[in-house]
Amino acid sequence: MIAVTCTAPVNIAVIKYWGKRDEKLILPINSSLSGTLNQNDMKTTTTVVASPDFDRDRIWLNGREEDIQSERIQRVLDEIRKRAGDRKEASKEKLSTYKVHIVTVNNFPTAAGLASSASGYCCLVYTLAQVFQVSGDISTIARVGSGSACRSIYGGWVAWDMGNEIDGSDSRARQVADEHHWKEMRVLVLVVNDKKKETSSTAGMQNSVETSKLIQERVKIVPGRMAQMEKSIADRDYETFGQLTMRDSDDFHAVCADTQPPIFYMNETSKRVVDIVKRYNRTCGKTSAAYTFDAGPNPVIYLLEEHVSPLLSILTHFFPSDEKNYVRNVPDVENVLKRELPKGFEDIEKRVDGLKSGPDLRPCLRHRSFCVMRRESLEWNEKYELQRM
Ligand code: DP6
Repeated sequence: MIAVTCTAPVNIAVIKYWGKRDEKLILPINSSLSGTLNQNDMKTTTTVVASPDFDRDRIWLNGREEDIQSERIQRVLDEIRKRAGDRKEASKEKLSTYKVHIVTVNNFPTAAGLASSASGYCCLVYTLAQVFQVSGDISTIARVGSGSACRSIYGGWVAWDMGNEIDGSDSRARQVADEHHWKEMRVLVLVVNDKKKETSSTAGMQNSVETSKLIQERVKIVPGRMAQMEKSIADRDYETFGQLTMRDSDDFHAVCADTQPPIFYMNETSKRVVDIVKRYNRTCGKTSAAYTFDAGPNPVIYLLEEHVSPLLSILTHFFPSDEKNYVRNVPDVENVLKRELPKGFEDIEKRVDGLKSGPDLRPCLRHRSFCVMRRESLEWNEKYELQRM
């Protein structure tokens, strides 16, 4: 019997993957790029036990047994078994006959648009690869589980090159910069809603490919944007990085709105956060915070360390809550929880781009109970551990 436990992180794209050219192999219509978050607050933990005595494969997700026959899990298991024993030729035959029992847990809401499939499939593939002694690049195996999962295989900044090959062999993850590059970068994950999302990414992007005209325009724009994004990361050029991040998120959600039936992942709270970030940048006189939204309403903000405290103070001012652990992993949490507008930002309500007056920013009671903010990646992925425990 072999038993291995591993953990894996989530990643949040700054150039989004949206749309497949091959549904089975999960080949995308555009390349994408993400930052891998550290695992302090959000991670998947998976244990795989393999034994010649098990009569069938089984899987439990967050304590409940799930259908192991799911197409994606089967494809992952097939790929792993094909490559079993790469490291030790002798064990190949024996290993690939072992059945597995898989137990996997997320310490954050599953399927709420918080990249759970990314860490989930990354962790599953990585753990299976340890058990079955698979060597070499495993991002193509993670990809057939869930597209975005292939980017969690590496730390730091990771591109998923769309590739051209029909068998998907060149559609894989590539590390653009490691976790030590751009030390000052931080990520705020604002949980405004942790319910399961209404339209899954898989179904949503399929509809977009079938019905949106705008998605064809986006596909033409992404290659240039990828190149600019990679350069901005290499140069640690926040201004360009931030502008590209927000632009790509906006474009992705415009494609969703252009889909039939239209998909709206962002809610009123999401839009208020966008407004606050815009006003914050305007007040700073330069791009200092950049929002991005996946297939859900939760804003993720990439920003440099020096902006964490002032921006969080503004957010807690406009979205107050008495909930325990409302703000996590912030060194000066006391200060942030005072909910005071920081110096220089007192008139932020008046800072509206191109408009005489903007939406009212005063706290809206409706949002109080479910606006939980969490701070991730205090040590921007300092200890990247796709780790065997
Ligand atoms: C909006 O990877 O969840 O988060 O490949 O069908 O499993 P499947 O989709 P998934 O899509 C993620 C889409 C996104 C953007 C991104 O992470 O790049």
